[in-house]
Amino acid sequence: VKRIAAEADGQAYDIVIGGSIGQLPQHMARVAPSGTRVGVVADASIAASYGRTLRRGLNRAGFYTRLLVVPSGEGSKTLRQAERLLRSCARAGLDRQSWLVALGGGVIGDLAGFVAATYLRGVSLVQVPTTLLAQVDASIGGKTGVDIPEGKNLVGCFYQPWLVWIDPTVLRTLPKAHWRNGLAEVIKYGAVQDSALFGDLEKGGAALFRGFSARWTRIIACCAAIKARIVEKDPLETQGLRALLNFGHSVGHALEAATGYRRYLHGEAVSIGMYAAAWVSEQMGLLKPVERIRLGTLLSRAGLPIRAPVPVRRSRLMEFLERDKKVKEASVRFVLLERLGRATSGHRVSPVILDRALSACGL
Ligand SMILES: NC(=O)c1ccc[n+]([C@@H]2O[C@H](COP(=O)([O-])OP(=O)(O)OC[C@H]3O[C@@H](n4cnc5c(N)ncnc54)[C@H](O)[C@@H]3O)[C@@H](O)[C@H]2O)c1
Ligand SMILES: [Zn+2]
Repeated sequence: VKRIAAEADGQAYDIVIGGSIGQLPQHMARVAPSGTRVGVVADASIAASYGRTLRRGLNRAGFYTRLLVVPSGEGSKTLRQAERLLRSCARAGLDRQSWLVALGGGVIGDLAGFVAATYLRGVSLVQVPTTLLAQVDASIGGKTGVDIPEGKNLVGCFYQPWLVWIDPTVLRTLPKAHWRNGLAEVIKYGAVQDSALFGDLEKGGAALFRGFSARWTRIIACCAAIKARIVEKDPLETQGLRALLNFGHSVGHALEAATGYRRYLHGEAVSIGMYAAAWVSEQMGLLKPVERIRLGTLLSRAGLPIRAPVPVRRSRLMEFLERDKKVKEASVRFVLLERLGRATSGHRVSPVILDRALSACGL
């Protein structure tokens, strides 16, 4: 079991990697008095399996529990579901000393995190991420929120958890597409921050990417530590450091939006986006061609696309690309690679270079 001491926004908390879901109640019982109320938020497919195990353990440890179930999928990240959960919390008699446990992928983490931040102006939150993406990314950093019809993640707040409890063995049941989704973020951490991690992923071979094995616990811990370290230095995304984690995400988000969030999983779009950003880096003389090729090879080996199989109308892509730049300035700015393991943010990219990179990625 690995423990990472994290701090953000003046709040210290632990990220524990390698403890089982069954061990979490004992851990919580050490700080919370018996009889404390706990709301476990899970989506429909997790509630029946891990939700029941967790609830039984919590009851045995002396907690009073309520399982709060929402439908699976991004469609549940709404104000309507948040209101439903808030009202369930009130009806279950949760008070200021109560806890909310977010058991599931990033959808549940964002939604339950938002509810924990706003119910009674904040109750203690435990993140129990169950997807690879949530374990290495979404559960760490305190970003919570929901979508509105005008756009994804437009409503929310920063709210740090009290604990992040990562049980990597639950990834054994994760559907393959969602596994690959998380692989894109893992490769991203190696590319922007950690050449040793990148090298380990290359050495791991195809078998490493096939699915969960014991080797993954160390890799997940490594990624979680990178995210925690970056968030600690730049908790509210004001210093440009946290922006490094957006590598590949400008083009990725634009591609997801331009295709109505139907054609690509987030990780697939980001994979193409990372490769496009590597092309831009190369064209601007920052990155050696051989390193751009290494990134492409690793992404492909993970089963991720580096070229769009079907082109997207360029004007539509550019419209979303410019909108994604958060209206901060007119020109599109990029996170670019200087080498594998080192990225820098805020690069202005000329339309000619961007055009060439997008074309190289089939866009
Ligand atoms: N807060 C952040 O910093 C942050 C960062 C990245 C992404 N996100 C958000 O995360 C969301 C995406 O999260 P996600 O990819 O985890 O999707 P998700 O939460 O929808 O989970 C994916 C699917 O896998 C199922 N599932 C989860 N764990 C499982 C397991 N162990 N075994 C079997 N099935 C399992 C779920 O029921 C769901 O159907 C997006 O809404 C995104 O905006 C947030
Ligand atoms: Zn991402």
